Amino acid sequence: MMQRLILGFILGCSTYAVAQTSLDGYWEYSVPNGGVTFFSLKQTGDTVTATEDDHRTPFVGTIHGNDLHLTSKFQSSNGIFEIVYDGVRQSTDRFEMSRNAPGVRPGEVFETEGILQRVDREAVYPARLPLPPLQDQPDNGLVRAPPMGWNSWNHYHDRFDDATVRQTADAMISSGMAAAGYKYIIVDEGWSSSRDANGDIIGNSRFPDMKALADYVHSKGLKIGIYSSPGPQVCGGYQGSYGHEEQDAKTFAAWGYDYLKYDWCGARRVYQRASADLQGAYQKMSEALAKSNRPIVYSLCEYGWGDVWKWGAKAGGNLWRTTGDISDHWESMDRIGFAQLDIQQYSGPGHWNDPDMLEVGNGGMTADEYRTHMSLWALLRAPLIAGNDLRTMSEETKSILMNAEVIAIDQDPAASPVQRTPPQGTSEVLVRPLSNDAVAVGLFNRGSSPAEISFRWDSLHLNATLGGKSLEARDLWKHEAIAVSGDTYTAPVPPHGVVLVRVAVKPIDTF
Ligand code: GLA
Repeated sequence: MMQRLILGFILGCSTYAVAQTSLDGYWEYSVPNGGVTFFSLKQTGDTVTATEDDHRTPFVGTIHGNDLHLTSKFQSSNGIFEIVYDGVRQSTDRFEMSRNAPGVRPGEVFETEGILQRVDREAVYPARLPLPPLQDQPDNGLVRAPPMGWNSWNHYHDRFDDATVRQTADAMISSGMAAAGYKYIIVDEGWSSSRDANGDIIGNSRFPDMKALADYVHSKGLKIGIYSSPGPQVCGGYQGSYGHEEQDAKTFAAWGYDYLKYDWCGARRVYQRASADLQGAYQKMSEALAKSNRPIVYSLCEYGWGDVWKWGAKAGGNLWRTTGDISDHWESMDRIGFAQLDIQQYSGPGHWNDPDMLEVGNGGMTADEYRTHMSLWALLRAPLIAGNDLRTMSEETKSILMNAEVIAIDQDPAASPVQRTPPQGTSEVLVRPLSNDAVAVGLFNRGSSPAEISFRWDSLHLNATLGGKSLEARDLWKHEAIAVSGDTYTAPVPPHGVVLVRVAVKPIDTF
């Protein structure tokens, strides 16, 4: 009893001593798997505010004795969310913390344990290394059609591991996705941890052997992608490639990776958002990839800043994100998808606009909305990168992701831009010329009540009357022929739904 009293007295004294030290300064919150987040803390009495680097809303909270509590509420397209940090001070410059944050799906909350410790701001914001003079990069000859595959982010965020990726590769084959054309398995944020004594980037405990993982995916006849950043850290704080571009490109090539998604986020600590810095930083990795002597698809991810579609190909990109992140929500998908129509001329073989990955099958939209998503992405010639759990797909999800006739529009070798006709209220008609005397026509109802949407057969400019030829038409979601008669075709289209039609000049009957 006496001992406990003495211990309590000692702890009480140290508590008092520790709590007196102001929290003002720069702090790093790190979790065991390599994710770090940086904060500027400001203490006034018991009140603490924490401004997270790159985060929109500051955290506010209190310090009582050794107990630190911080919360931040933010609005996303899925609602208002709250992130909560709770910690106990271990010493002047160190707290043991837990962090509760919303997951990818509604109602999900994830708790992580980590350490909050005071750090030197200069170490976090390293000196800016010179970027190469801007110079057009040669075409690497890859992805003549929009790339197709799967990426971990939309479904898992960084909560996945080597086993998940292997199972996804298995499911890519067993579900028929690979046969439908999906071939890249892309490991997004969450695999890296730090660098070894030679400065080589290494995987974290969930990804102990990135080469073995690549070998496994290759053994299935698939290709594999990896993720890094021009910054010292990627968005969620895992290791990035800053200052190690050539070394990392060599490592990715030696491990056998076929695709690199290179995400800006953490580069904000080093470079400006100005186009020259963006282009220079992306060019730097393009040059490094070229030196690696492995064909690696290069995917730029900087959310469309600096009109990347105007210089992405010059910087060596095979595809570039044209927008901020998609979410599994009608409003997000509809807004992003239709905004692409103004920049279609910048996309083509080897150099694609990327309106972000698919959400089909993640549960936040209706089947009609997902058919709209898939149809729109196909008409836009967008990369088709599934973002759902391939291991547990419903038949409906499979029928959307593996609709061969819709995929064929996306992959059409003519790669012609889609054309918009002036919208009538919330009804949109998009027309995409295809190879072999055909066109795809998408009738989109962006409104929330049923609509009738029409197009004139002669607006398709298929010249079917020349030489006595006629037209044939097909509904690509119902998988059935449409009678070509009269001047116009009119279809009832459900709210947020689509009717996707392929019209072709019928070959002349040779009998
Ligand atoms: C950014 C990208 C996403 C994903 C995350 C990972 O937000 O746009 O696609 O890669 O980073 O943190």
